[in-house]
Amino acid sequence: SSDADGFKEKTLAMIKPDGVEGKYVDAIKEIILDSGFSITQEIERQLDEDTVKSFYAEHASKSFFSNLVQYMTSGLVWIMVIEKENAIADWRALIGPTDAKKAKVTHPDRLVALLVYHSALYLSELCVDSTQKENCVHGSDSPQSAAKEISFFFQKPQSGDDLTFHVHIITE
Ligand code: TYD
Ligand code: MG
Repeated sequence: SSDADGFKEKTLAMIKPDGVEGKYVDAIKEIILDSGFSITQEIERQLDEDTVKSFYAEHASKSFFSNLVQYMTSGLVWIMVIEKENAIADWRALIGPTDAKKAKVTHPDRLVALLVYHSALYLSELCVDSTQKENCVHGSDSPQSAAKEISFFFQKPQSGDDLTFHVHIITE
């Protein structure tokens, strides 16, 4: 949350492998900027298994965990810190529900529909397998998660990681 005096909140936004593979990065960034966010940092990465397991550690015991790890390591991801008032809740609202299939049916005004508009593709083509909830975009779910996730990707050395990724720090 944020106060009424224009306090800008930061959240972590990540375009998952199907979004990068589907060439949605530019369309999603346009949506982000059109929605009043600024993008303060961004990085393209190939995540390895250990990184994904650590990022999604809260889900380690879930039945979908191995699918999630496999999916999140299946290609490049595009990770951003985005900022505006009430960024955490507003970004989650823009993404829509976790289940991408539901998003298409019940939230046609949300991000997934905007993707359809920008790309002239249907969501079913964007999400390889909606039963695995390959829902294209991540957003932190609370101020605690946002702080943790931003420092996970942007404020720590990535020891042992693939060093060929590209870093763009946008200065104001
Ligand atoms: P979760 O944190 O519950 O959702 P959100 O991303 O909306 O915060 O789950 C993290 C990711 O795990 C989710 O984006 C997709 C994947 N997932 C599945 O593959 N199957 C599931 O049943 C759930 C709940 C999540
Ligand atoms: Mg979550």
